[in-house]
Amino acid sequence: MTEVRAAVASILQIEDLSVSFDTAAGQVKAADDVSFVLHRGEALALVGETGCGKSVVASSIMQLLPRNAIIQGRAVYAGGDLLRLDELEMSRIRGSEIAIVFQNPSLALNPIIRVGEQIAEMLRIRKGAAVQALQQARAMLSGLGLRGDDKMRMYPFQFSGGMNQRVMIAASMILSPRIIIADEPSKGLDGALAGEVMAEMARIKNQSGASLLLITHDLNLARNISDRIAVMYCGEIVEIGRSEDIFNKPLHPYTSALLDCLPERGFQPIPGSSPSMINPPSGCKFLPRCPKGFERCRKKPGMVTVEGMSATFSGSESMSREVRCWLY
Ligand SMILES: Nc1ncnc2c1ncn2[C@@H]1O[C@H](COP(=O)(O)OP(=O)(O)OP(=O)(O)O)[C@@H](O)[C@H]1O
Ligand SMILES: [Mg+2]
Repeated sequence: MTEVRAAVASILQIEDLSVSFDTAAGQVKAADDVSFVLHRGEALALVGETGCGKSVVASSIMQLLPRNAIIQGRAVYAGGDLLRLDELEMSRIRGSEIAIVFQNPSLALNPIIRVGEQIAEMLRIRKGAAVQALQQARAMLSGLGLRGDDKMRMYPFQFSGGMNQRVMIAASMILSPRIIIADEPSKGLDGALAGEVMAEMARIKNQSGASLLLITHDLNLARNISDRIAVMYCGEIVEIGRSEDIFNKPLHPYTSALLDCLPERGFQPIPGSSPSMINPPSGCKFLPRCPKGFERCRKKPGMVTVEGMSATFSGSESMSREVRCWLY
């Protein structure tokens, strides 16, 4: 029974995803055996230091990686594997079923089309909704703090980076996708505005019942917006669980160290630096920086489910608390 309900409640399953890049310096292993489930209606945050592989995971799902990427594993959506769809099938899914909001809006917007038109055009192409397209675009932008017809008539170059970021969010959400992947969506927005825009994004998401994969290195944003948090370190997910549990009872020493970096928790930087992705340590990748390392950590730990710390989501039993550490 649990298994059936869990299957119904999940919308995207990432299974053993590994991505490496062939470079002049050697093979960079940017994602290493990444597995997680995104539930229907859930917001899941993927957090971790710069370069740990968050964007690589997002781009793999959307088939947006460069040609030198070697990809293994599966991304199961609607019964099929996204990693194996051809370009035509993938382009049908991109935008209308799974949307991505990028870190850098200037790359995604057309500089010579008015922003209102750009958003409305998405609706016209995909849904044929010509009459209400501009009205809907206006409502969407207005909810994100860009109110009025004059804003609709602006060109991207007349907007600040933060304003364009909101145009991007509107453009990606207007088609009511079932999954929204947001890669650092609040980058370029200052503190108060970032909070407002993210809250509006969460509101639109909840209204449409979409699921959100939020990529960020802002732990507080992750906690405020998402139901669960997955912590990545050097290409691997090292811990996953309910946001509150991750904050109140981090299990992995890396998660604890990340939380200790927060200003409100003393601003203690993690000693050392992330290992190279070309020749990472063969055992636990965090061992060189870990205050709790012991002999066993020279062997690679697997992901283990921690009993008594699992949670339910929409009737699903599959929100288990998992950690990749020999201490458990
Ligand atoms: N096209 C590529 N060729 C070679 N290496 C790459 C390529 N794209 C990404 N990488 C490497 O993969 C690793 C993961 O990169 P990724 O962009 O996913 O990190 P991230 O977690 O999103 O970081 P940030 O928080 O800074 O956005 C990095 O070491 C990066 O240098
Ligand atoms: Mg990134």
